Amino acid sequence: MNMRPPAAILLLGLVVGAVFVLSDETSRVQPVPTRTTSAQTGTAAPTVPGSPTAATASADPFQTAAECQPCHQDVWAEWKPSFHGQAWTDPMVYALSKGFRMPECIDCHAPLPIHVTGVATRVAPRTHSRSDGVDCLSCHLMEDGRSVAGTRDVDTSATPGACRPKKVPAMSDATACKGCHNQHETVTELADSGIDKTCSDCHMEPVERKGAAGAVLRKGRSHVFPGGHSLQMHQRAAKLDVAVVGGEVVANVTNVGAGHKIPTDARHRSYNLWITVTDARGNPVVVDQPFPNGEMRLYYRDQFKPSTQVTYGATHTAKWPIPEGVRGKAVVRLTYALNPEELGAGKVTEVFRTEVELK
Ligand code: HEC
Ligand code: HEC
Ligand code: HEC
Ligand code: HEC
Ligand code: HEC
Repeated sequence: MNMRPPAAILLLGLVVGAVFVLSDETSRVQPVPTRTTSAQTGTAAPTVPGSPTAATASADPFQTAAECQPCHQDVWAEWKPSFHGQAWTDPMVYALSKGFRMPECIDCHAPLPIHVTGVATRVAPRTHSRSDGVDCLSCHLMEDGRSVAGTRDVDTSATPGACRPKKVPAMSDATACKGCHNQHETVTELADSGIDKTCSDCHMEPVERKGAAGAVLRKGRSHVFPGGHSLQMHQRAAKLDVAVVGGEVVANVTNVGAGHKIPTDARHRSYNLWITVTDARGNPVVVDQPFPNGEMRLYYRDQFKPSTQVTYGATHTAKWPIPEGVRGKAVVRLTYALNPEELGAGKVTEVFRTEVELK
């Protein structure tokens, strides 16, 4: 197949998108705290911000996520192929950020530890081990460079070279995500939803862990972080109801399972409704026609269109007027697209399909 024109269109579209990701950013950029500068030297052994001198020789500050791997293999295996683990190497991010020549894209895609920059405040970029993306250190490492933020205090003194887990309340709620995920108000949407759940309840499944040191089993939380790339998550988020009312096919999409709008976060994403009608002999009469008002999305700023995202508990209704004489079997599909270019190229994920009879 000839790949060039679609690729060029994709890139052009993504660049247009980037301008708006960027314009969102410039209005929100906060000054980088000066104490982060020690980590920005970019040398082979970057110093972790904080007070590394306070650490003993056997407990030097952690420098990279790779140091967590030997003791936390299971978490590592979940995180590495996740979108956090790919935040720097993701081809779409690479294209959009012009190979990260747009410095404002580095902040959240290769950040310094949130506990160093300040939980729930805008993250700051790091200069080393960027290909690790959003890594263990980004979410866990604390100022002294050896303690890690968790949901409880754990005594690890029996394990040489271990981390020092400390209970940090923010790790149990949305504030741990806020520095990176509130650019488009996802954390605010959760607060507004009134749902009695937090981000990790839905995005970090309970799992069983073998203790870092060996055999002991304990409860843990999966680090796969499924989201918009997961069909299962979409099927959990939405419900599709279709009915023929008068001369119209009425499709209702309800947000039943996401504690924020669907879609949320990046502006590129959309849910869309489509209809296909086949007559009694099985011949197509209408093929994948979009519903008027069948798109659910946060639009780019230059589109000046009100958001059609679906709030938790709310329903988005779209109506397709049945053309004169059209009869047969109608199939209504709800799809999800990562960006408008993939939508245009038909590269969508089918979330649900429902059949109704047009009599
Ligand atoms: C030498 C081994 C070792 C290294 C290296 C290590 N840890 Fe740990 N970690 C442990 C042990 C032992 C525990 C106690 C619980 C267990 O057995 O898993 C633990 C517990 C934790 C906990 C708390 C788990 C809970 O039950 O709440 C977190 C979070 C954590 N580690 C993160 C990290 C991170 C991030 C790194 C890298 C910066 C790291 N650890 C490096 C051994 C290690
Ligand atoms: C404030 C933090 C932040 C900044 C700054 C940021 N991003 Fe992101 N980016 C995120 C988060 C969080 C996600 C995941 C949520 C989502 O995709 O909806 C994401 C996801 C993406 C995705 C989707 C990846 C995929 O595979 O679906 C692309 C592409 C992207 N970012 C590009 C960029 C570009 C280009 C820039 C710079 C102009 C940038 N980002 C700046 C936080 C940020
Ligand atoms: C995007 C942020 C993020 C990243 C990246 C991340 N973690 Fe976590 N991690 C968390 C949060 C939040 C919790 C607490 C979840 C809860 O119990 O509510 C947690 C819990 C843990 C726990 C205790 C629960 C368990 O499953 O054992 C360990 C250990 C841990 N993380 C280690 C790591 C290691 C090692 C890495 C890198 C391979 C890593 N984390 C990457 C956010 C993150
Ligand atoms: C330090 C910044 C940072 C923090 C903190 C962070 N994330 Fe992310 N997250 C990102 C970025 C950047 C991406 C997109 C990576 C990519 O696709 O390139 C992302 C991706 C995701 C995705 C996948 C989105 C998709 O559509 O597939 C989910 C889900 C997610 N994050 C949830 C969380 C939750 C829940 C927390 C809090 C426990 C959290 N994140 C903390 C930066 C962060
Ligand atoms: C009640 C469960 C629930 C809670 C709470 C929740 N999410 Fe989600 N989230 C979902 C489901 C289901 C999806 C899949 C639908 C979708 O992609 O919008 C999703 C999708 C996402 C995505 C992918 C972007 C998109 O919409 O396609 C990101 C990023 C995300 N969530 C981050 C978060 C963060 C950050 C929090 C906390 C502020 C959070 N979520 C709280 C259930 C939840």
